[in-house]
Amino acid sequence: MARIRELISEKQIRERVAAMGAEIQSRFESVDEPIVLVCILKGSVILLADLCRSMDRPAQLEFIGVSSYGAATESSGIVRITQDLTATIKGKHVIIVEDIVDTGLTIKYLLENMRTREPKSLSVCALLEKPSKSKGQIPIDFLGFSIPDQFVVGYGLDCAELYRNLPYIGVMES
Ligand code: IMP
Ligand code: MG
Repeated sequence: MARIRELISEKQIRERVAAMGAEIQSRFESVDEPIVLVCILKGSVILLADLCRSMDRPAQLEFIGVSSYGAATESSGIVRITQDLTATIKGKHVIIVEDIVDTGLTIKYLLENMRTREPKSLSVCALLEKPSKSKGQIPIDFLGFSIPDQFVVGYGLDCAELYRNLPYIGVMES
């Protein structure tokens, strides 16, 4: 078993996600129709579940699956949609819910892809950001935490599909 050092506790996550939900709620206070929360599978599932319950307003939950092309082509930022949305987002207020923005290529691709579907507004909510890599190029409208450039797991984030169900976020130590 790999050792995992706690970086962000369950309590810190709970408080921050509650605050993010409140931020989203106040940002869309004047909007009567449901906003659309687009969850990027699988890493953002846990965040989505907590986030959507931390806002007292109508919200529609949608899911999109993406996978990056191999390491050689990753720098091009091309990702493959493995499971598309099942609803149209045209004319809707859409928030992409992402677990972590690392190089920012995935979110950049998704922003471009979502824009072609003509939402009324499009914003990004990410629990984590590694600023050293994404260099602030990606506008994150609702951000949980900035973390150092280390590989983290837990609260949805995996290492080879494991550790997603840890209630805290930790750094893998070999
Ligand atoms: P990006 O396209 O480089 O921003 O990568 C985003 C995706 O890479 C995230 O949605 C995660 O699935 C994965 N990822 C990046 N950093 C980590 C990490 O530290 N732990 C687990 N997954 C990560
Ligand atoms: Mg992910």
